[in-house]
Amino acid sequence: MTNTPVAASMPAARIEAMLVLPDGATPTDRGYLDTLGPGPAPQRRTVASVAMNSGFVSRIYEGPWRQGALPLLAAGMTMRSEIDKAVRDLRVGGSQTVLDVACGPGNFSGRFADLLGDDGLVVGIDMSAAMLEQAVDQNAGPRVGYVRGDAARLPFADAEFDAVCCYAALYLVDEPERVLAEMVRVLAPGGRLCVMTSCARLPGAVQRAWGGRRVGGVRLFGRDEITGLLRDAGCTRITLQMRGFAQFVQAYRG
Ligand SMILES: C[S@@+](CC[C@H](N)C(=O)[O-])C[C@H]1O[C@@H](n2cnc3c(N)ncnc32)[C@H](O)[C@@H]1O
Repeated sequence: MTNTPVAASMPAARIEAMLVLPDGATPTDRGYLDTLGPGPAPQRRTVASVAMNSGFVSRIYEGPWRQGALPLLAAGMTMRSEIDKAVRDLRVGGSQTVLDVACGPGNFSGRFADLLGDDGLVVGIDMSAAMLEQAVDQNAGPRVGYVRGDAARLPFADAEFDAVCCYAALYLVDEPERVLAEMVRVLAPGGRLCVMTSCARLPGAVQRAWGGRRVGGVRLFGRDEITGLLRDAGCTRITLQMRGFAQFVQAYRG
């Protein structure tokens, strides 16, 4: 993987042509395509969001943070085994267009791109400039490019992607219901989607009383919450696997 300026990179032109921005706005070239403009990410300020926008955390994220701490949540699954699971669930390969929602430093996007043919394309989207700088530095390549944008307002047309992934992020975003609806909207009919997020594993009544509350910006979802939201958004063949405090959900559009 190489660090190529976005304007000169092959995927950038393809991705720019896919962007749908209000009032014909154009993205800013920062090595990734920035659709949000200067200034901080437009999100609630929490311990988690401060961490995700910090240069220090973005530099250690793919190493000690993701490979050391997060596997505790998913009962021993490693980052690599999670990526392999997403690859299997999405059947990543060939000429697919894949969207990696809340891609962080591109740790999943880069691996997906390695598995695609020449016509394939991975788009990683995230709000954090610090994370995207790492993505461009560590996980760039001829079949992957990055966009700074809001997962709750994906800047793409309906049915644009063959596969959509969102790992280790839904519990951090401000509007998870809206993010899931957006993921389904941009997925082509028959396309595959996969999500890894938190799972509270509390008795039903306790979970209902807990509601959508957060700890440090992190939300604990009930075991039927994500599958229910995906069903409401039009997904079929939805499967759920739980490991520790994580849930892995796979679904098809239509
Ligand atoms: C823990 S990282 C996940 C990275 C990668 N998907 C993984 O599995 O390791 C969560 C990411 O979600 C991003 N994020 C949070 N809210 C977002 C939003 N509304 N739109 C886009 N990205 C968001 C953060 O900036 C952060 O990079």
